[in-house]
Amino acid sequence: MTTETTGVPAARTYVDPDRYEVERRVVFAREWTAVGVASAVAPPGSYVSVWVAGYPLVVVNDAGTLRAFQNVCRHRAGPLVDEGSGTCGRFVCRYHGWAYALDGRLTSARDFGAEPDAASFSLVAARVATWRGLLFVSLDPAEPDLEAWLGAVARHSASFPMETYAVTHRSSHDLAVNWKVYAENYQEGYHIPLVHPGLNRQIDASRYEVVIDGAVTVHAAPTRDGAVTDGAWLWHFPGLALNLYPTGMCLESYWPTGPASTRVEYTFAFAPGTPDDEVDGAVASSLAILDEDRAICEAVQRNLESGLVRPGVLSPRHEAGVALVQRLVADAVGHG
Ligand code: FES
Ligand SMILES: [Fe+2]
Repeated sequence: MTTETTGVPAARTYVDPDRYEVERRVVFAREWTAVGVASAVAPPGSYVSVWVAGYPLVVVNDAGTLRAFQNVCRHRAGPLVDEGSGTCGRFVCRYHGWAYALDGRLTSARDFGAEPDAASFSLVAARVATWRGLLFVSLDPAEPDLEAWLGAVARHSASFPMETYAVTHRSSHDLAVNWKVYAENYQEGYHIPLVHPGLNRQIDASRYEVVIDGAVTVHAAPTRDGAVTDGAWLWHFPGLALNLYPTGMCLESYWPTGPASTRVEYTFAFAPGTPDDEVDGAVASSLAILDEDRAICEAVQRNLESGLVRPGVLSPRHEAGVALVQRLVADAVGHG
């Protein structure tokens, strides 16, 4: 049996707070992150505020133009809006009341005692883009445009009428794991017979395939009855997963919230007319699989924190996607 151990990360990389700070900066401050659906900011003045990997951001519709900013006042770091969504005509800082136009210009510094130079204290912009009804942000001006970044995700999803699907469910889940434990777990079907007995009854996990295409993995497995899946299961480094079907989709986006905590956000959308029981069944089965993954990933994380874990080894048959995650993280940290 040949095995490949080169580059398998040390346990401390899943535990160390300093490493987390590096990855936050060199991975999540650079890549695009899906933060939901574009319809959430369709009306002028509507905004969505979200923390992505510890970065406070707000996306707003400024009279038809989408803009994103750091949700940080230029006076003394107060929040412009609370986390969540809403509508406003301008941003008024929650701390001392400085006001900003929705294009980020400082328009008033309430009762300040002097006139701060407005041009020097505009909100700090982030990038925002939409793709086929989904909403993305990035903190990095140098990152490729969204469609180029999506790469194989865009190509493999072309035949699914995503724009016609309507959101039925959203949910957020906090897992007590380093984000890489979850990302690596996502990349292999090797664990399915042990961890997902229900899924294992439906698909032939021994024939689970992960095809790598740049920073994208394309997953597929035949069903037990021999049928070929009519969906596309797509993942993009570091935290985007898109499961597409002819009548619906599940968007999953995840990012770290600390060295050993990960936020997972689900958005389910379905074609109009999809029967309720089909929708409810698909949502319930996705959430059950997440709970199964949560339990095993949190157990792995506890072991990684024990101080006993030595570098492991990856299956050449099943874990090429895990190796991809490890390589892309190492590349980013190496260039950080
Ligand atoms: S921190 Fe925003 S007005 Fe003071
Ligand atoms: Fe799983």
